Amino acid sequence: MRVAVFASGSGSNFEAILTAIKEQRLRGIEVVKLVCDKPTALVNERAERLGIPRMTFDPKLFQNKTEYESMIVEQLQKVDVELIVLAGYMRLIGPTLLEAYEGKIINIHPSLLPAFPGRDGIGDALKYGVKITGVTVHFVDAGLDSGPIIAQQAVSIGNEETYEQLAVRIHQVEHELLPKVIQWFADGKIKLNGRIVKINEMA
Ligand code: GRF
Repeated sequence: MRVAVFASGSGSNFEAILTAIKEQRLRGIEVVKLVCDKPTALVNERAERLGIPRMTFDPKLFQNKTEYESMIVEQLQKVDVELIVLAGYMRLIGPTLLEAYEGKIINIHPSLLPAFPGRDGIGDALKYGVKITGVTVHFVDAGLDSGPIIAQQAVSIGNEETYEQLAVRIHQVEHELLPKVIQWFADGKIKLNGRIVKINEMA
C-alpha cells in the first residue's frame, strides 16, 4: 500500500512510520511522499535523511486552498497514493482532497477525542485538569478533529506532570498506535459504517 504522510512540524510520527517499516513491524507498506506546508519544518530534514521524496509548498503563494490542494492531488495521483496519513499537519483538509481520497485520509491527535480537539490537545488537557488523556487515530472529515474514530489509547496524567513529560509519553503512544492503524488499513481490517468504525480482526 502506497502511503503519503502530511506533516507541518517535527515529524517524529513520520519517522516512527519509517522505523516500523524498517523493523518489519509494518509490512507491505511504502511511504512514497512527504507533503509539507512549512519549508522550514524539521520533518523536511528527516525526509531528506531517510530518502523519502517530498513535496514542500508555501500556502501563501497560492490563491486559496482549492488551488494548492489540486496541486497536491495531481502529485499524489502520479505516484498512486492509496492512503493519506496526517501526522501533525496543521491545516484543515478541504473538499478537493476529501473528494479525491474519500475514506482514505486518517489523522493522529494527542487527546481522547472528542475532548480537546485543535492545536494543543496536550496543553488543553493539562490545563483542564483531566486525569486521563491519550491518543486518537480517526478518519478525516471537513471538521476539526471530528471524523469517525478508529483507535484510541489512554494515558494517565501524573500529579506533578509537566507539559514536556506528558508530551514525551503521548508521543511514545502515538509512535506505536499510528503504525498499528496503518497496518489495519492495509490489511482491509477497518470497516466504516456512518460514524462507527469496526476493526475486523479476522480479515
Ligand atoms: C502529534 O502530537 C500529533 O498527534 C499531532 O501533532 C503532533 C505531531 O508531532 N497531530 P510530530 O511532528 O509527529 O513529532
